[in-house]
Amino acid sequence: MTNPTIKVADIAFARLQAPDLDVMEEFLTEFGMFKSARTDTALYMRGTDPSHHLHVTHKGAPGFISFAYKVRSEDDLKALSAVAGASGIENIDEPGGGKRVRLRDPFNGFLVEAVHGVQTPEAIPVRDRPLNWSAEVLSTVGEPRRLQFGPSRVKRMSHAVLSTPHLKETLTWFAQTFGLLSTDVFYVGDRSNIVGSFNRLDRGTDPVDHHVLNCYHGKTAGLQHVSYEVQDIDDLFVGFNHLNRLDKYEHMRGVGYHVPGGQVFDYWLDPWGQMHEHWLTTRRFTAASPTNLMLAPKEHDPSSRFAQTIMPHVGDHHHHH
Ligand SMILES: [Fe+2]
Repeated sequence: MTNPTIKVADIAFARLQAPDLDVMEEFLTEFGMFKSARTDTALYMRGTDPSHHLHVTHKGAPGFISFAYKVRSEDDLKALSAVAGASGIENIDEPGGGKRVRLRDPFNGFLVEAVHGVQTPEAIPVRDRPLNWSAEVLSTVGEPRRLQFGPSRVKRMSHAVLSTPHLKETLTWFAQTFGLLSTDVFYVGDRSNIVGSFNRLDRGTDPVDHHVLNCYHGKTAGLQHVSYEVQDIDDLFVGFNHLNRLDKYEHMRGVGYHVPGGQVFDYWLDPWGQMHEHWLTTRRFTAASPTNLMLAPKEHDPSSRFAQTIMPHVGDHHHHH
């Protein structure tokens, strides 16, 4: 592979659309996010880590508009603006500010934003919920530790998942443009029948998550889910318990364990059927980690309702002038 245009630093946020911002704010609050800003036409939600927003909702028909990667420098924005079909460097005219370049993948028309210089507010302090996985836990006798009921506390965004009829081309475009590396490539039947892959950030020797982008072959192009890391395993289970007790939102799948990357997952649908994941990982990778070829995980069965729950690409909120 030739050198990528740039290597993105991280995933920044997802930009979805929904017809009722009050209803979305309520869902995301129960899901474990915190309001960062709200305008007449958009809602900005954050996690506890110092990031202005991880989730943006614009008022409109349900679907996904874009997702955003954080880049390391304005020079990286400049390099991306030279990619075919990319916008110039723009000031972001919304809460949090910053600059960006918008790019469209040429095969599906997915909009990807590369952002730099978005405000970084202070972290939100979090009361701990102690981990059960420690020798000390069972040494505590006669002092009940009563966990607070309530939502999980979302920490950061971890990844986005795309379904595409143009898998190979789409993967190549993301790798070439943003410097993503393949962690696990998976097949069905014949080993050459690749149906998807998990792709991670390239931060050299700095360890990263198993994937920041999962892309799989599907008839419909769209965003399948967006994923958010919570504080720890207790926080994930307390949040599951909370959403369950509310009995207001549809539970898609979980709590469960993904074997390929060693992650705990729990998937919930917002009131318009858009999938959001609570997630925790146990494995990290560097640029030197090899790519694995593996049989497709059962949960990636393309005929499942899970795989076919897809947000269509919508909106032209930010026209390319
Ligand atoms: Fe996920």
